[in-house]
Amino acid sequence: MSTDTALLPLLEVVRAHSADPELLDRLDPAPEDRTWARILATPEVELWLIAWPRGAATDWHDHGTSAGAFTVLRGTLTEHTFDGGLQLHDLAAGQARAFGPGYAHDVRNHGNEPALSLHAYSPRLTTMTRFRFRGDRLEVLGVERAGEEW
Ligand SMILES: [Fe+2]
Repeated sequence: MSTDTALLPLLEVVRAHSADPELLDRLDPAPEDRTWARILATPEVELWLIAWPRGAATDWHDHGTSAGAFTVLRGTLTEHTFDGGLQLHDLAAGQARAFGPGYAHDVRNHGNEPALSLHAYSPRLTTMTRFRFRGDRLEVLGVERAGEEW
């Protein structure tokens, strides 16, 4: 988890909302594909709930100019990051990660069970850049835009 104090409010946002027991019933707990629902949107922040079957992956992407945070509600997720070397961060239920603008990762459910996670972005997501991991670098594949790709 980042120690950048500017990221702490988003961690608090996801942690505060993750206490809502109704979140666990908002999405199919055993989906065939990764599914998501936006559960809150204000001018400053948006919250997304994501359900992950075993083996699901976001593939490599960033979040444009948005900062973000996410926490696992059920199951386990593994965040892959690259800063010259590939790093894997395993997250069990209750654990969280936070990041600043331009941060790239690939989040995967390597676990044996479906997972559920809660994600906050501030400001609201407007673009996401997609990448291909080349082993020694991330190669840009394209840019997705809110209202078009999601
Ligand atoms: Fe992401």
